[in-house]
Amino acid sequence: MNDIMEKSLGLARPDLLREACLIGGLWITTETDITVRNPATLALVGRVPDCGRVEALTAVAAAQVAFRPWKAMTAKARGAILRRWYELILAHKTDLARLLTAEQGKPLHEAEGEILYAASFIDWFAEEGKRAYGDVIPGHLPDMRLTVTKEPVGIVAAVTPWNFPAAMVTRKVAPALAAGCTLVLKPSELTPFSALALGVLAQEAGIPDGVFNIITGQPQAIGDVLTGDPRIAKFTFTGSTPVGKKLAANCMSTVKRVSLELGGNAPFIVFNDADPEAAISGIIASKFRNTGQTCVCANRILVQSGIYDLIAAGLAARVEAFTIGDGLAGRTDQGPLIDGRAIAKFHDHLNDAVQRGAKIIAQATPPDLRGHFVSATVLTNVRRDARLNQEETFGPLAGLVRFDTEDEVISMVNDTRAGLAAYIFTGDIARACRVSEALECGMVGVNTGLISTEVAPFGGIKESGLGREGSHYGLDDYLNLKLNCVYIGS
Ligand code: SIN
Repeated sequence: MNDIMEKSLGLARPDLLREACLIGGLWITTETDITVRNPATLALVGRVPDCGRVEALTAVAAAQVAFRPWKAMTAKARGAILRRWYELILAHKTDLARLLTAEQGKPLHEAEGEILYAASFIDWFAEEGKRAYGDVIPGHLPDMRLTVTKEPVGIVAAVTPWNFPAAMVTRKVAPALAAGCTLVLKPSELTPFSALALGVLAQEAGIPDGVFNIITGQPQAIGDVLTGDPRIAKFTFTGSTPVGKKLAANCMSTVKRVSLELGGNAPFIVFNDADPEAAISGIIASKFRNTGQTCVCANRILVQSGIYDLIAAGLAARVEAFTIGDGLAGRTDQGPLIDGRAIAKFHDHLNDAVQRGAKIIAQATPPDLRGHFVSATVLTNVRRDARLNQEETFGPLAGLVRFDTEDEVISMVNDTRAGLAAYIFTGDIARACRVSEALECGMVGVNTGLISTEVAPFGGIKESGLGREGSHYGLDDYLNLKLNCVYIGS
């Protein structure tokens, strides 16, 4: 393979592409390293340290040393530092977006959107940290006074995924730091550079040494420390359900607080009375965002019989017009998938649906590039038992399933162990409320395909996760409640 060192991504600040890990305020390297390739071109983006157990333990020790002084600062003082970090991210948003597209593949305009989304969590929690109010509880006895205060949980370990290499970092780091916790982050080894660039700017913003540590490297060795070390009070993970279950089980040997953002199998329900154009735009936004690689992507597209043909034809026309390509080389609608495994799953789901009688009605043209590209595809006549309805595809495959009644679609939707997001398109407000209440999931979009924002709680039920991120609820995951029961004498 011809390695083209993509050191010159056209960055105004080339030092944001940092090939080192941040431990206790020092940038460290290791003897061996991990190569990171651009999924659109397979060119080398750079190399990051191959950390293991030793570096993970050192990072935990650094976070431990930093914890007391960071906790002792006022929330206002911590908020001011976080605010500087937010402003630095905005000032460098173009570089951060280019780096993100280079390592992850999403279209550049989506990467720019992700950087603003990532920054929004820092802005939000810089403020929200000041509002960690407690309670005064009317005493249970005449001479008792009861108050409840909130305290940072302690050292947090975070493991973040490749599909949102910046936003999933700040959605965890910002509330943790605002609450007064210190943190060790392990970003995905496929997309570590966004996290490391955020670390460079965090240091420049004045986040003290050891408060925010970043290690890249061996998932198993690092994961064993982050889930098993008794000094770590809380573990937070975004990723697949099988991996999340294993990591959470490991955390129980030291009874850590655990937050999990896991896989979904989001239904996208279009009723006969929906506005067809709005529904098609909603499907495009939800299904094809990040080339189908989000955990809240529409996975099962359930369309009522009376509007089915109209939705299928409109969706096909939009998908056929997609431009697929390298996000750094010009305006694109779709990028590559992250790797060969993702391509194999896309084709497995497509072939399985076709073998069960589905019909391909539209395919976008893939580019003539060496990267991990597939053709965005629309299928009709998809059977309910097709794999793409049972498991997350995590790719640009829209399979339309027909249904007739409200009761039928509700029971189809709830027949899964996943419970993350759902979408309903209808012109009937009563139906929207009724169906939304009946769905077993953590988030519902009504007449919209985009539900994510820093001000609202993000998270699932059933096997889609534990806890909520973003919003004022997101701070609670990093705070312990303490009861102060004071006997004041007679
Ligand atoms: C995810 O896919 O994990 C996050 C998507 C989002 O925040 O919208």
